[in-house]
Amino acid sequence: MPAFRATAPGKIILFGEHAVVYGQPALAVPVPAVQAQAIAQAALGLSAGEILLDAPAVGLKSALWRSLPPEDPLARAVALTLEALHAPQPPAVRLKITSTIPVAAGLGSGAAVTVALVRALSGFLGAPLPDAAVNAIAYEVEKIHHGTPSGIDNTVVTYARPVYFVRGRPLQPFRVGAPLTFVIADSGIPAPTAQAVADVRRAAEADPEGYAALFATVGEIANHARDALARGDARRVGTLMSENHALLQKMEVSCRTLDTLVQAAHEAGAWGAKLSGGGRGGNMLALAANAEAAEAIAVALQRAGAVRTIITTLQPSP
Ligand code: MEV
Repeated sequence: MPAFRATAPGKIILFGEHAVVYGQPALAVPVPAVQAQAIAQAALGLSAGEILLDAPAVGLKSALWRSLPPEDPLARAVALTLEALHAPQPPAVRLKITSTIPVAAGLGSGAAVTVALVRALSGFLGAPLPDAAVNAIAYEVEKIHHGTPSGIDNTVVTYARPVYFVRGRPLQPFRVGAPLTFVIADSGIPAPTAQAVADVRRAAEADPEGYAALFATVGEIANHARDALARGDARRVGTLMSENHALLQKMEVSCRTLDTLVQAAHEAGAWGAKLSGGGRGGNMLALAANAEAAEAIAVALQRAGAVRTIITTLQPSP
């Protein structure tokens, strides 16, 4: 059986994180500059049914999947894939997983690793699963990572296209009217999304009316942003990003480092800036007027303490 290779991109949330968990719309795009990759190949010397996982990218060095606890994300991804394929006893497989997506940084590393794994394993076994099945498995695995995920991360990573996402509804692509250049900057602070999501839940339970209003305003911003993106009105997109950041501050998911980076992006001429993802660390996002401005903003963000910057351009819809 020939080896089968699959990749999945990182992702970044443009608008609506956290509020999306409560049914508000959110917008996210793939980040192809960072990728997870899985290669499935025949494993000589192993018996049928055995799958050797080799995933240094997520801190796992050569383990048989059945030896891992069932709640291990990779083990769960393998189990759900075999279940979907009705293949409890497949030929012996070696699955090598690598990734250039920073972990716990809000770039969808967990979802991308799962999607690459599911595609490589099902492809190697001769029955590549369709996107909807891959997405459903990735959502189940996200629950291990994030507790109560909205499903936006696995959806963007699976379909690898800009997504206007409302929890529980079918995917809707959104239109991009003009190229938009973003700078993504890593605060260097690891940010487990599950913690931030759980804290927002607690705060929302303590102040239901206040948080319902915050979430609804974020939802309105996401809808305005969808229209501005379709028109190619980058200045308006930037303004809406900054408004969204202010609401994330009110939800207490920003932190001093992220606020410093957002401020530095504004001072360097960004049209807008906000944290992206779970917050409390991880990444922030700035919108630049063009590629040259993006370089200057990236330098300013590094000077302000960012440990890594990625420049990514969202291309207009065909
Ligand atoms: C994480 O990338 C985005 C959050 O809104 C959580 C979720 O949607 O599952 C913070």
